[in-house]
Amino acid sequence: MLAIICHHEPHFRFCLLSKESVDSGPDKVSNQPVVTALVDEQNGRRLLAMSEAAKYSAVEVLRNGRSVEIRAVEGDDGERLLEAFGRASAKTIHRRFFAVRRLTEEQVGFFVNVDFIKHVALVVSVNENMKHPIVGGGRYVVVTPTQAEVAFAVVDEYQGQGIGAALMHHLTAIARKAGLKEFVAEVLPENAPMLKVFKSSGLPMSTKREGGVISVTLAL
Ligand SMILES: CC(C)(COP(=O)(O)OP(=O)(O)OC[C@H]1O[C@@H](n2cnc3c(N)ncnc32)[C@H](O)[C@@H]1OP(=O)(O)O)[C@@H](O)C(=O)NCCC(=O)NCCS
Repeated sequence: MLAIICHHEPHFRFCLLSKESVDSGPDKVSNQPVVTALVDEQNGRRLLAMSEAAKYSAVEVLRNGRSVEIRAVEGDDGERLLEAFGRASAKTIHRRFFAVRRLTEEQVGFFVNVDFIKHVALVVSVNENMKHPIVGGGRYVVVTPTQAEVAFAVVDEYQGQGIGAALMHHLTAIARKAGLKEFVAEVLPENAPMLKVFKSSGLPMSTKREGGVISVTLAL
């Protein structure tokens, strides 16, 4: 049997902030109760998709004619990610994390060390004076065997150029190959750009207002 099981992760947004909740070791995994043949088959697909996702790279041309690379996050992207975080406004960070915070080393480690099965992350890099900073990223974390929670952030000066839509498109392609059936997300009601990206994806979408957030479900 494959070693990975898609069990209920704690909520993605908090899962991102708690390494302990993400690192389910082998013992914890083998204690999971229900493992069906369906899950094995899905995990097989996910392993195949993983090898492709881990090498993912695509070039996109933005609305302003500028080219960006959308690629799989790499283990040594930590510094670049922190720089991107430093370039993002408080509003952008609040919309992404629902709080304004600094990233700890542990959180950065979580963001860059992904397995491309339960956790898939793409970053957007641009050529700025021969440097290649990260200016955006999108990721999903599998929360049930068929469902993953998705989240995005784009540095303010690069917003509105189509990066969000492109990330959505590429993550959708990866998730479909991995056999996932749904993306879910929690979005602040005032976050029109994120809701627009979801609507414009063309995926069947349903929304539910829950507390102070909109829970979005997209069929893949
Ligand atoms: C949400 C986000 C990732 C979108 O990225 P982006 O690169 O700006 O997205 P795009 O350029 O592909 O599209 C944004 C869409 O929102 C629209 N938009 C921008 N500001 C808007 C506003 N105030 N009201 C309505 N629509 C707006 C744009 O016109 C565009 O729609 P269009 O394609 O029909 O023109 C980015 O705005 C961001 O990082 N926001 C802060 C973090 C965040 O909200 N994360 C989501 C957590 S789930």
